[in-house]
Amino acid sequence: MATSLNLFDDDDGSAAHGGAARDAIGPQSFVLRGFALPYVDALLQGVDRVTAASPFRNMQTPGGYTMSVALTNCGELGWTTDARGYRYARIDPLTGQPWPDLPDAFLQLAQAAALDAGFPGFTPDACLVNRYEPASRLSLHQDKNERDYDAPIVSVSLGMPAMFLFGGHARTDKTQRVPLFHGDVVVWGGVDRLRYHGVMPLKDLPHPRLGSQRINFTLRKAG
Ligand code: SIN
Ligand code: FE2
Repeated sequence: MATSLNLFDDDDGSAAHGGAARDAIGPQSFVLRGFALPYVDALLQGVDRVTAASPFRNMQTPGGYTMSVALTNCGELGWTTDARGYRYARIDPLTGQPWPDLPDAFLQLAQAAALDAGFPGFTPDACLVNRYEPASRLSLHQDKNERDYDAPIVSVSLGMPAMFLFGGHARTDKTQRVPLFHGDVVVWGGVDRLRYHGVMPLKDLPHPRLGSQRINFTLRKAG
């Protein structure tokens, strides 16, 4: 039973855990409501440190589009896209330097969230940091540039709310609309690891702390 009032909880999929609600959105996929809130100060310091070394930038897709979401990375491997395709790389193509280290708070939160969702022993080596502004969107895609799919994806949302789309294993499968708020963490893995997902165009609903932006970071085991 959920212990706090949450307009977006459905009674079937929610469970109390440490005072926060957990919504099941698939057999091995969960939204951990507010799970990141105790980490927010440390996470934002981490984002500042990462972006001071490797700034947000709007990358090109292989199809020649400029992404509306600006991104950077931290950890050993960083996800990049350009005219040659999508891949993970050890060097930031903008700076010519290795990506900044994964902040401790990112790792601790990711491991705690993965464990809570049933994935013990998560050892991420890559973290993609996305910055959304009003109208930024992310079209439906699978996270499939990682070497193996045994590890889950852990996705942390800060700032403005967004409508996350969580689909099936085919692009045309029906999608669930999952509202995500500041501090929510989504974990998907196992049988759900390759499900399509995306983000609808953001509305401008400024956040008290982050203003008109949403920062999302996803931790992965890529190598
Ligand atoms: C992603 O799929 O990389 C990001 C998802 C999100 O922003 O919630
Ligand atoms: Fe993704």
